[in-house]
Amino acid sequence: MEEPRGVPAAASLPDGAEQSLRPATLQDYVGQVEIKRNLGVYIEAAKNRNECLDHVLLSGPPGLGKTTLAQILARELGTGLRSTSGPTLERPGDLAAILTNLEAGQILFIDEIHRMNRAAEEMLYAAMEDFKLDLIIGQGPMARTVKIDLPRFTLAAATTRVGLLSSPLRDRFGIVCRLSYYHPEELRTIVLRSAALLGVPIEAEAALEIARRARGTPRVANHLLRRLRDFADHRTGGRVTAALVGAGLAEMGVDRYGLDPLHVEILQVIVHKFGGGPVGLSTLTAAISEPKDAIEDVYEPYLIQEGFLKRTPRGRVATPKAFAHLGAQPRETQLDLPVA
Ligand SMILES: Nc1ncnc2c1ncn2[C@@H]1O[C@H](COP(=O)(O)OP(=O)(O)OP(=O)(O)O)[C@@H](O)[C@H]1O
Ligand SMILES: [Mg+2]
Repeated sequence: MEEPRGVPAAASLPDGAEQSLRPATLQDYVGQVEIKRNLGVYIEAAKNRNECLDHVLLSGPPGLGKTTLAQILARELGTGLRSTSGPTLERPGDLAAILTNLEAGQILFIDEIHRMNRAAEEMLYAAMEDFKLDLIIGQGPMARTVKIDLPRFTLAAATTRVGLLSSPLRDRFGIVCRLSYYHPEELRTIVLRSAALLGVPIEAEAALEIARRARGTPRVANHLLRRLRDFADHRTGGRVTAALVGAGLAEMGVDRYGLDPLHVEILQVIVHKFGGGPVGLSTLTAAISEPKDAIEDVYEPYLIQEGFLKRTPRGRVATPKAFAHLGAQPRETQLDLPVA
């Protein structure tokens, strides 16, 4: 996915920074209670039976902990993790090379699986279902198919856009986990945990305020904490206080709902330029000059979840809450369009 602009977006932090704050066990993984409980049961059962875990699909907006969960799966199962991503599997041969090099019981993690090439996806069907690979060798009349046996493995796949997966692919996952936005109390726990790991002194009220403005997203919470630590170094001798959080977030352009300037710009364009909508996605993309993917994957889900925006068959519509948030006069009659 193209990196969205906007501060602070839910785009990945540099590898080391992100990795150092990742919980390593299911127990340390905060929130997503049901998913955690179920995965705990499935992992235990697979281990007791000495079998591979069924294939796992992890879906949800960026920064909610999909990659983290995949890493935890491998660790809890006591097995290795091979990572790749949909866009890098350009040719079926790329996937074949990875599959044939797997060791029995390993987890293959495919990130952004919705962006995998069609031919590679078709190869994956037989690999997932029968642990076999159909390879075509040679060309033209000389071409023949060879079947290769693969070791049993677990595919853990992550996607921010589960709706883009074909149903044959989706149906081959025995375990499907839809991650949802975190509650502020859960994010507060994550902020306190990250602060402890980073050695940053933080007030309880400050941790809760960061949590409230983190858009339900652990990555954003960690991101805000790191930036506020920088402010704290200059202003409060390193201590993250409630007053510092208020001032720092205002300077970073994060409003009381946690919306950053780009979220607000999206709402402004719909409300001020298009009278509240409906606006088609391509029109919106052109008006904001932001990649379509970023708008759909990163910005819209949270605006919709918080009731600022509705997706309708005719386009995006700003809600009365969005008008109120921008201090704009609500229109006389809200269009009562069905939700897409
Ligand atoms: N449940 C959790 N408990 C504690 N920290 C978490 C949790 N989930 C995520 N995090 C933190 O948030 C960061 C982002 O998580 P992760 O990279 O797993 O998200 P993702 O869903 O894979 O995002 P993307 O879709 O962009 O790949 C991690 O580095 C980790 O520190
Ligand atoms: Mg990820």
